[in-house]
Parts: sequence; structure tokens; C-alpha cells
Amino acid sequence: MLNMLRSLLLLVVFCFLTCSCSDPEIEEEEINARAFMDILNAETGEDINLLSNLEWDYATNLTDANLKRKTQFAADMSVRVKVRWEEVMKYNWKAFSDPTLKRQFMLYSLLGDAALSKDEIVSLHRIIGDMSKIYSTAKICDYSDKTQCNLSLEPDIVEIHANSRDEAELKHVWVSWRDAVGPHIRNMYRDYVHLLNKTAHLNHFKSADELWLFEYEEFNMKSLKGQIRTLWEQVKPLYQQLHAYVRHGLRKRYGSIVSENGPIPAHLLGNVWSQSWANLADDFKPFPNAAEQDITKNLKKQNYTVEKIFRTAEDFFTSIGLPKMVDLFWKKSIFTKPSDRNIICHASAWEFQDGEDFRIKMCTKVTEENFNTVHHEMGHIEYYMLFKDLPLPFRRGANPGFHEAVGDLVSLSVKSPKHLKKLNLFDARLDDPELMLNNLFEIGMTKLPLLPFSYMVDQWRWGVFSGKIPFDDYNCKWWELRQELQGLEPPVPRSEADFDPGSKYHIPSSTPYVRYFVAIILQFQFHRAACEKAGQYDRNNPHKLLHLCDIYQNKAAGTAIRQMLSLGASKPWPEALYTMTGQHVMDASALLEYFRPLQTWLEKKNRENNVHVGWEKSTKTCTKGK
Ligand SMILES: *[C@@H]1O[C@H](CO)[C@@H](O)[C@H](O)[C@H]1NC(C)=O
Ligand SMILES: *[C@@H]1O[C@H](CO)[C@@H](O)[C@H](O)[C@H]1NC(C)=O
Ligand SMILES: *[C@@H]1O[C@H](CO)[C@@H](O)[C@H](O)[C@H]1NC(C)=O
Ligand SMILES: *[C@@H]1O[C@H](CO)[C@@H](O)[C@H](O)[C@H]1NC(C)=O
Repeated sequence: MLNMLRSLLLLVVFCFLTCSCSDPEIEEEEINARAFMDILNAETGEDINLLSNLEWDYATNLTDANLKRKTQFAADMSVRVKVRWEEVMKYNWKAFSDPTLKRQFMLYSLLGDAALSKDEIVSLHRIIGDMSKIYSTAKICDYSDKTQCNLSLEPDIVEIHANSRDEAELKHVWVSWRDAVGPHIRNMYRDYVHLLNKTAHLNHFKSADELWLFEYEEFNMKSLKGQIRTLWEQVKPLYQQLHAYVRHGLRKRYGSIVSENGPIPAHLLGNVWSQSWANLADDFKPFPNAAEQDITKNLKKQNYTVEKIFRTAEDFFTSIGLPKMVDLFWKKSIFTKPSDRNIICHASAWEFQDGEDFRIKMCTKVTEENFNTVHHEMGHIEYYMLFKDLPLPFRRGANPGFHEAVGDLVSLSVKSPKHLKKLNLFDARLDDPELMLNNLFEIGMTKLPLLPFSYMVDQWRWGVFSGKIPFDDYNCKWWELRQELQGLEPPVPRSEADFDPGSKYHIPSSTPYVRYFVAIILQFQFHRAACEKAGQYDRNNPHKLLHLCDIYQNKAAGTAIRQMLSLGASKPWPEALYTMTGQHVMDASALLEYFRPLQTWLEKKNRENNVHVGWEKSTKTCTKGK
């Protein structure tokens, strides 16, 4: 009823506004289309709300019954989506004069999964659900007591990688985790790829990589992949310097198992996937004798609790004029791992398309890594809240990388020494250049390794989807890319009996990954723009460099961020980028500028140590066949 009223009202307003239209037929169709769109958005929103609730129920309680309910609903919904889509395609929307209406039609013109038959949808959801469950419930045995076999990824395996410096233990955990997941989902993954490829074909794409890149709409495939490659080439020299420096340190510690000029063994970098090396930052910091600034220790010393971490993150967002978390958020979110059921611990932020229900699901621990993750996830919630009143198709990030960049943008200020000091997490003088560099090193160890990793994950998947990487080469190609881009090698030889991609959450859960690469580039671009607006950035003033800037409580910076986020996907992403930065293209120069003092130091240090920069071919093999 309300919708009909609203449509009528819109009709009236619309007639007044469009008197100068030239083609009366299109004009009339556009009026009808507007009314249709209102109903379409309402019905679709309701469906998504119900589906999201069922997905939440499964993610937070991994039972077969819950998987069945969500799968059944998704299959039923797909029938409705297809009927609606057929209606959408009857409109001559490309000729519409109203860009907002036209763009909504454009976004609805991708049918997606619903192109599959009902049975195929059920299969697709079942495979993804089963793979995610295997991943989320896998257990391994303890290294020193092999009869204890209940270590799970979060928290046990993550913590061992973070804290252990015993090479044999790390190797055991690294290999066991891969044994516990990969081989069990390898064949399922092949079926999944087949269904995804079919979805792509039914949507008139060559293969599923094209389907996935639709989210970056404005550029054809080649140019988006090309842009990423160009950005990677720009940042690669910095990554290689860090790689060479860390390899040198690891070789001193572990001896000849770390080769002098080759790739780094993947189990030694403080992280299950070597995607962040932050847990080694303290081991290899540039100035080891400077006062210790261990954020995890300081969080504990300051009696931070899980809730206090969330409140601290919220405080930052509200200090720059972004919305605070609503009551429902505090009521319905899951902040710690429950003990009475299995859940997907991988942190995520949720919206339910009803304008009031937003949640985070996370198995939070009081550590620096989780402190960052909470900011990251809350950034998603801020985005959801700021675009919640837009027409439904626009309620998404300008592109997926934008969505991943919001929380990290804020983290860049939070992790400035100035801000850490405000939080009592940094207890030294702010004019000590050694401490400043140690801090920058820690941030580099967190962010830089994610660049080649995030590029690698989707390069692999693009190859798999397009058929360039065949099933009997899945694992060896994974390692070829790991070596080429990240400069890593496995601690033990691998074969096609393994399926190491499966040991990373986003593969079984079918979540695209190149968005994280885009997000790293963007967050520094946003940070530079925000700091400029806050009057804290001047590249010629050593006290106003990018890595020192903190936009806390700065309304000018906050207003700019708010404007960009409020656009959602109502405009092509280069326009959203432009509103914030005055640039239309992704650009790595802000990132390079931010890390310039670190890069200079690393180059000097690697020269002094006479360290080879780059890596030669690994001697660890991967054999085809089992
Ligand atoms: C988990 O879901 C099952 C249904 O599959 C239900 O019986 C059970 O109560 C749920 N557990 C919790 C803690 O919600
Ligand atoms: C793991 O199992 C051992 C013995 O089987 C038990 O003592 C320990 O409490 C268990 N740990 C967890 C986290 O369940
Ligand atoms: C943290 O808690 C301990 C024990 O309750 C207390 O002694 C200490 O003063 C607290 N520290 C801070 C910074 O509040
Ligand atoms: C996906 O479809 C493309 C185009 O038909 C084909 O070349 C490719 O081999 C398919 N990929 C897989 C994994 O089946």
C-alpha cells in the first residue's frame, strides 16, 4: 500500500519534471518503469532479508538442518528472481533519460546464480556450504602430544603460527592444517567450478572470472586485470626489499632451511597463509633496542576486553562524524566463539536490508591483529548504515575494494603513534625517529605481504575458471604463483594429492579476493585525501608526513569520507573515488609515499648486509599426480 502511494507520488512529481522530454513513448515507459522498480526493490529486499537471516543461522550454527533451510530458500527465491529479471528485460531501459533509474535497471540486468535450474542452485549452495563446514570444523593434533587432536584454526592454529618459533612445530601445524582441509574438498571444488562456469555461460560470459569482475563494471576485463598488474609492478620493488630483509633475518634464526637467495619457506612468517607478517614485526624491527611497543601486550596491560575493543573502534568512527552502532548491533552480533555449537569463525560484517539490523560475527581475542580486524569489520557496518536509504541496487560498495578499504582507512590513523598514545597503547615520546620507524615497519609487515597474496589468490582462480589451470594442475599452479608473486615455497614437497588453495577461507566459501588488493591501494589514496583535508599532510614537512597523520575527531576528513560512502554504488566507482580524492583512477603513489621512510631504510640495510633482493627458483618440487 505504502509502495503504491509512493509510486503515485513519484509519478506526479516525475510528470512535472520531465515536460521537456522528446520521445513520448519512452517517457511513458519510463514512468511505468519507475513504479515497477519500486515494487521490484521492495520484493527483492524482503527476499534478501529472509535469505540473509537463514545464512546467518547457518554461519553461526553449522548444522545440516540449517544448511538445508537456507539452500531450499535460495532455490525457491531463484525462481522468483528469474521471473522478476524477465520483467526487467522487457523494458527498453537503455533509452531511459533518468540516469538513476537506468542504472538500477543496468544492475538488475545481471541474472547471476538464478540462471541455473533449481536443482543446480541446490547443488551449488550445498557444495559451498559443505566446503565451508569442512574448513570451519577441521581439527588437527597437537605437536608435542599427538594424542590430543582437537586443535582448531581459531584460536589454536592461528596462535601457534603467531607465537611459536619452533620450526618443527610450525611445520607440523602447517602441514596438518592443509591435510585436514584440502584433500577433503578437492573434488568438490571441481564440481563447484563446473557449476560456476555454467552460471557464467548462462549469463553470457565466457567464464566465471568475467562474471566475478562484473562488480567492477566500468572496465572491461582486460583493463581491470591490466590495472591490477600495473599497480603490482609499481609496488613490487618495495615488497621485494621487505622480502629480502625478512629472509635474511629468518636465515640467521633458522639456518640453511631458509635459502640465501630463494623463496622463503611459507611456515615461518607468523601467519597460516603468510598473508601478513605482522607477528614477526617485533622479531625483526629496525631498531631492536628502542623501547618495546608491543600492542598486544599493551592491550592486555591496559585491561582491554573484547567489548572495549569494539567500543574503541566505534569511538573513532563517531569522532569523525560517522554513525554510531545501533542497539540491535550490540544485541545480535557475536563477538566471541560460542562453545555449544560450531560456527564459521572467519570474521564478517552483515546487513539485512531492513535499515536497522547490522551485525558482526567474529571469534575475537585481545590481540593487535584482532584489534585491526574489528576496525576493518566495523568499516563495513559504517558503509551499510550510510547507504541504507539508497535504492536497493545501490546498497553496495562503489566496488568491492571500497567496501574492504573503509575500516582499514580508519586503522591507518589508529595505528599512527600519535593515536596509539591517546589510547595508552604507546608509551614513549613521539619525537623518537627510531620508534616511528619501528611502528611503520610493523604496518608494512601487516599490509605489504597482502598485496602479492591477494593478487595471487584470484590470479589462480581466474586461471581455474577460464580453464587455463586444469584440475590435475590445481595445486602445482598454486605453488607456481605463490613462488612467482610472493616469493614463497612450501616447507615440504607438494603434489596433486594436496589442495592447498582449500586451506584459505575464501576458496571454500566462494568469496572473491582481488578486492583486498584493490582495498590496500585505495585505503592509502583515501588516507592521503583525508589527511590533506585535515590539514595534516605536507610532503615537504617532516612533521606532516602521511604515516604520522591521525584524523581522529577531524570533521572535515569525516565529512569527505561520509560523502563518498553515502554514494554507495549509485555512481560508477571512479566517480566515488573522485569525490574523495580528486582522482579518477587507482594509484599506488600514496602507498609508496606512506612507506617511503621504510623503503629508504630497507634499501640501505639490504645493501649493508649485502643481501640479494628478489628470489631464485625454489628447489621444493610439486609433482603432478598423487
Ligand atoms: C542449532 O541449530 C539446531 C537446528 O539445526 C537447533 O536445534 C539448535 O538449537 C541450534 N543451536 C543453537 C545454540 O542455536
Ligand atoms: C582437547 O582434548 C584434551 C584431551 O583429549 C583435553 O584435555 C582438552 O581440554 C581438550 N581441549 C579443548 C580445547 O577442547
Ligand atoms: C588492570 O587491572 C588490574 C587488576 O584488576 C589493575 O590492578 C590495574 O590497575 C588495571 N590497569 C588499568 C590500566 O586499568
Ligand atoms: C569454462 O568455460 C570456458 C568457455 O567455455 C572453457 O574454455 C573452460 O574450459 C571452462 N572451464 C572449466 C573449468 O570447465
